[in-house]
Amino acid sequence: MKILVTGGAGFIGSAVVRQAIRDGFEVVNVDALTYAACLDNVASVADHPDYRFEHADICDGDAMVRIFAEHKPDAVMHLAAESHVDRSIDGPGAFIRTNVNGTQTLLDAALAYWNESGRPEGFRFHHISTDEVYGTLGETGQFTEDTPYAPNSPYSASKAASDHLVRAWHETYGLPVVVTNCSNNYGPFHFPEKLIPVVILRALAGDSIPVYGKGENVRDWLYVEDHADALLTVLQKGEIGRTYNIGGENEAKNIDIVRTICTHLDTLRPRESGSYADQITFVTDRPGHDLRYAIDPTRIRTELGWRPSVTLEQGLEKTIAWFLDNEPWWRALQDRQGVGERLGTAK
Ligand SMILES: NC(=O)c1ccc[n+]([C@@H]2O[C@H](COP(=O)([O-])OP(=O)(O)OC[C@H]3O[C@@H](n4cnc5c(N)ncnc54)[C@H](O)[C@@H]3O)[C@@H](O)[C@H]2O)c1
Repeated sequence: MKILVTGGAGFIGSAVVRQAIRDGFEVVNVDALTYAACLDNVASVADHPDYRFEHADICDGDAMVRIFAEHKPDAVMHLAAESHVDRSIDGPGAFIRTNVNGTQTLLDAALAYWNESGRPEGFRFHHISTDEVYGTLGETGQFTEDTPYAPNSPYSASKAASDHLVRAWHETYGLPVVVTNCSNNYGPFHFPEKLIPVVILRALAGDSIPVYGKGENVRDWLYVEDHADALLTVLQKGEIGRTYNIGGENEAKNIDIVRTICTHLDTLRPRESGSYADQITFVTDRPGHDLRYAIDPTRIRTELGWRPSVTLEQGLEKTIAWFLDNEPWWRALQDRQGVGERLGTAK
C-alpha cells in the first residue's frame, strides 16, 4: 500500500512516516517545509527505497494534481497544517490558508484522482484533526465523537472548518474518508515552541519556565508514537465516513506536567544547587485558553481494539531522555522565527 502523507516533516507526520516505513508501507511525504518542519525528523528513512519526498505546498493545486498522477497513492493521510495556537492568535491568516484552503485544494486533487482511477473502494482520505474543535470542558465530562463543535481559537476554528470540508466531500462527492480527532501529543522531535519541549529546554538553559495563568489547564496527553500507531490502525480498519477520537487516557494539569519534568531533570541532569522547579514563573494566560480537554476513547478501543501503550509517566521519561540525547537537533531549531518568544498575547 502506498500512502501519501502531508506534513510528514513535522512532529506527528514524521512519526507516521517512520512507523509506516517500518511497517512495510510505501510513503510519499508531501511537505512545504515551513518554520515547523525539519527533514532531520525523517532522516532515518530518507534513503529507504519505499520513501519519496515532494517539497510542495498543499495550497498549490497544480502541484497536488501532479503528485497524485505521478505517485498514484492508495491512501492519503493529511497532517499538513499550521498547528500552534499562540501563532494563530497573532496571525490567523496563515491558518485559514493552509488548514482551510489547503485542505480544500487537497480534497479536490484527491477526488479528481479517485474519480479518474475508477473510484477504487479501497481508497482512503484520512484527515487528522484535533480534540480542540470541541471547545472546552469544565471539571467533568469527556469529548465523544458526538460532542458538538465549539472551537475557541483561530487554530481550532480552522481545523473545525477543515473537518467539515472533509465530511462534505464524503457526503456530496462520495470520497471515502475517515477523520480522527486527537488530544495533545508529546514525544521525540516535538518542535521547541510547544509546552513540554519549552519546559525541558528552558530548564536546561537556566531560564525561567513560563506557566500560563495558574497552570490549571488540563490536557489528555498522548505519546506521539502511540498516535502514529492509532492513525495507521484507523487508516486500515476504520469505517468509511466515521470519526474516531484518539486520547491517551492521561489527563494532567499543566503545572503538574511542569513539576514532573523538573523532578526528572533533577535526577537526570541535577543543577549545582536547588531544583529546576525554582525556575517556574507564572505568566499572563493565553486569551481564550480552554480549561480542560478529555477524550472518551470508547469507540477506537471497542471497534478497532486500539489503546495507548505507555502511561504519561513512561512517555515523559522517554521524551526527556530523548531531548537530553539529541541536543544538536533542538539547538538547530532554536533560532527559527518566533521560537523562544512569548507569542499569542492578543491584538
Ligand atoms: N500537536 C498536537 O498535539 C496535535 C494534536 C492533535 C492533532 N494534531 C494535528 O496533527 C497534524 C500535525 O500536527 P503537528 O503537531 O505534527 O504539526 P507541525 O506543526 O509539527 O507540522 C506541520 C507540518 O505541516 C507542514 N505544512 C504546513 N503548511 C503546509 C502547507 N501549506 N503545505 C504542505 N505542508 C505544510 C509543515 O512544514 C510541517 O512539516 C495537524 O493537522 C494538527 O492539527 C496535532
